[in-house]
Amino acid sequence: MSGPATELPHVIPAHLSVERVAELDDHDIAELCEATDAAIIEGGGFGWVEPQGRAALERHFRGVMLVPERELFVARLDGMVVGSAQLVRPHRNNEAQAFAAQLTHAYIAPYGRGHGLARLMIQRVEERAAALGHRVLNLDVRETQATAIALFETLGYVRWGEHPAYARVRGQTVAGAYYYKLIEPGRGRRTGQMVSGQVVS
Ligand SMILES: CC(C)(COP(=O)(O)OP(=O)(O)OC[C@H]1O[C@@H](n2cnc3c(N)ncnc32)[C@H](O)[C@@H]1OP(=O)(O)O)[C@@H](O)C(=O)NCCC(=O)NCCS
Repeated sequence: MSGPATELPHVIPAHLSVERVAELDDHDIAELCEATDAAIIEGGGFGWVEPQGRAALERHFRGVMLVPERELFVARLDGMVVGSAQLVRPHRNNEAQAFAAQLTHAYIAPYGRGHGLARLMIQRVEERAAALGHRVLNLDVRETQATAIALFETLGYVRWGEHPAYARVRGQTVAGAYYYKLIEPGRGRRTGQMVSGQVVS
């Protein structure tokens, strides 16, 4: 069965927005780098362990926007960039997994949390993945990220595995959890029909 679509209020509050970006001006990229370092300093959970500083993060995000398989989403609170997420599509040579994509590097800076932006951002990534024809969204997360795990499970992500040696953070080995969600591209057969009873090993 497909997971339920991520539910949002019918009217998104005007002070919240999420957009897919192919370029960012200097002001936005400065806010994005600041939000990223703030989230890393608060505890990370999305790859980086140490704050990277403006120059390194700017190179990273400008690079992300150039990679054909990656799409960058930024979340804004009152117009200010406070977080981001990435949608990663399979390489073209991976035809067998072309139906799946990955949600990764999702975070909201501490000063942008609690407004519903992560929920909105994940929904926007799901909508984009569906529009691109993907039927599965995969993600993985450190076991220590309790808020993120609660959010993903609320949004219908199904835990299918755990990795005891998922990450190393400040000298400690941290376990990780793996999730997927079936999504509906809105055309062709329903994903649930395609998947149920057809798993071939
Ligand atoms: C996980 C994270 C993205 C949530 O961001 P956010 O914008 O505050 O989340 P939202 O406001 O959309 O809230 C989502 C849900 O989580 C709940 N929530 C938010 N903060 C919470 C907290 N500190 N404790 C418990 N629940 C919390 C909200 O109540 C909400 O649930 P609801 O929609 O049913 O009311 C943010 O805490 C974060 O960046 N964490 C560190 C990075 C990380 O773990 N990333 C995920 C790994 S890829």
